[in-house]
Amino acid sequence: MDLLLLEKSLLGLFLAIIVATMVSKLRGKKFKLPPGPIPVPIFGNWLQVGDDLNHRNLTAYAKKFGEIFLHRMGQRNLVVVSSPELAKEVLHTQGVEFGSRTRNVVFDIFTGKGQDMVFTVYGEHWRKMRRIMTVPFFTNKVVQQNRAGWEAEAAAVVDDVKKNPEAATSGIVLRRRLQLMMYNNMYRIMFDRRFESEDDPLFVKLKALNGERSRLAQSFEYNYGDFIPILRPFLRGYLQICKDVKTKRLQLFKDYFVDERKKVASTKSSSNNDGGLKCAMDHILEAQQKGEINEDNVLYIVENINVAAIETTLWSIEWGIAELVNHPEIRKKVREELDTVLGPGVQITEPDTHKLPYLQAVIKETLRLRMAIPLLVPHMNLHDAKLNGYDIPAESKILVNAWWLANNPAQWKKPEEFRPERFLEEEAKVEANGNDFRYLPFGVGRRSCPGIILALPILCITIGRLVQNFELLPPPGQAKLDTTEKGGQFSLHIMKHSTIVLKPRSF
Ligand code: HEM
Repeated sequence: MDLLLLEKSLLGLFLAIIVATMVSKLRGKKFKLPPGPIPVPIFGNWLQVGDDLNHRNLTAYAKKFGEIFLHRMGQRNLVVVSSPELAKEVLHTQGVEFGSRTRNVVFDIFTGKGQDMVFTVYGEHWRKMRRIMTVPFFTNKVVQQNRAGWEAEAAAVVDDVKKNPEAATSGIVLRRRLQLMMYNNMYRIMFDRRFESEDDPLFVKLKALNGERSRLAQSFEYNYGDFIPILRPFLRGYLQICKDVKTKRLQLFKDYFVDERKKVASTKSSSNNDGGLKCAMDHILEAQQKGEINEDNVLYIVENINVAAIETTLWSIEWGIAELVNHPEIRKKVREELDTVLGPGVQITEPDTHKLPYLQAVIKETLRLRMAIPLLVPHMNLHDAKLNGYDIPAESKILVNAWWLANNPAQWKKPEEFRPERFLEEEAKVEANGNDFRYLPFGVGRRSCPGIILALPILCITIGRLVQNFELLPPPGQAKLDTTEKGGQFSLHIMKHSTIVLKPRSF
């Protein structure tokens, strides 16, 4: 690091301390802020709180400061709500006021400062993007059009695993094959495309770039430069890597998928043959032709689906399988239900999922204990607002600790236990769609997950088929799978992708 930069940074720091002290003196009188640790100038609470703002650490702060607290992270205000009542206030009652999104320096890069749908503020652009994406992605018609594809992909997983002798002996990292399946499920919807195998070079490239995007965005290591602008020069290298990954990724989406689809669509129309059903991209390109969105917006829609749909569902499948391996008695019950309702060997399809309450309960319990997005996607208030009698300064980052709402022993019976029965007994009325503010795995209200309509049947079909066809076991010499968690900015997944033994079942 050159000395000049250091000198400038120190000078900047000094000046900023003076300004911040003056501003905080002036502001302190005006606002009644939520409770929290006492901030120091410039750094706020960052030096005390650190970078790792995962759901468990934030739960510990809620126990100390209450159902609403504020951390001043450098220049950013972070407000965390941890009760069903306040979740309702943020997501429902004041859903418009708190319906925007914050982006940090890294998300600004990956979303072109909010040209996408997931990370844009609540307003005209968001409404337009959500409307344009609804018909091609988020309706029951899409489910009906694609369910045979999802069933075929799950069947292909079962076949491939059966063909691999290692699977039944030392075990395999099942996630790798499930990842291919999830890409195929979503790329069929988007582009009517699929990848033949895990070695398909295009799939390998795509997976690597998406993996880099997730890692770079979810990491806590860039927080310091986001919170404290004068430290941003130190982040230059990191942000440059983000920019490179973003450019390569969008180019890949364009060259190999969007442009290819344009060619297919033009061949179809020139031969005057409407040749089958439209895929999502056909609808999106129509919106572009009408001038409703531009080419960048099209690419950001592809970007959003890649991150919002594939990894989240994959993490949830992975958690569900890990819990089933670790709970043989629950696995047995799932299988008995499948055998009784469908008949032994009759493979589960989407319409069956509605007749399998125990399997549904297993999925709900997985999403409760192992919530893939435990803090939801950060919300934001564009203007000064009020919450529980406190002032919330404009542009605060609002996290709803949905994981704690669903794992608080004051609200749930033995929440630390993986017990699907709770959703058939004391919590029988609770659904995943947000009908109870203690259980919000997909959020609720304006910015809730529109992908729930696809995620739930995909989860049921995949987990159902695996239980039907295999005995799922830990690898030899291991009693249980390691379910240590790894949290990110707002994600939660399993730390180590498990090796699982899958013994084919004889009917
Ligand atoms: C198990 C799988 C999934 C989980 C747990 C999940 C969870 C979530 C959560 C918690 C949010 C944020 C809600 C909020 O901030 O209030 C969200 C947003 C979103 N999800 Fe999902 N999701 C899943 C699958 C999907 C799928 C399959 C798709 C698309 C096909 C999808 C598309 C989206 C989009 C576009 C948003 C942003 C909505 C907006 O900002 O208006 N998700 N998801």
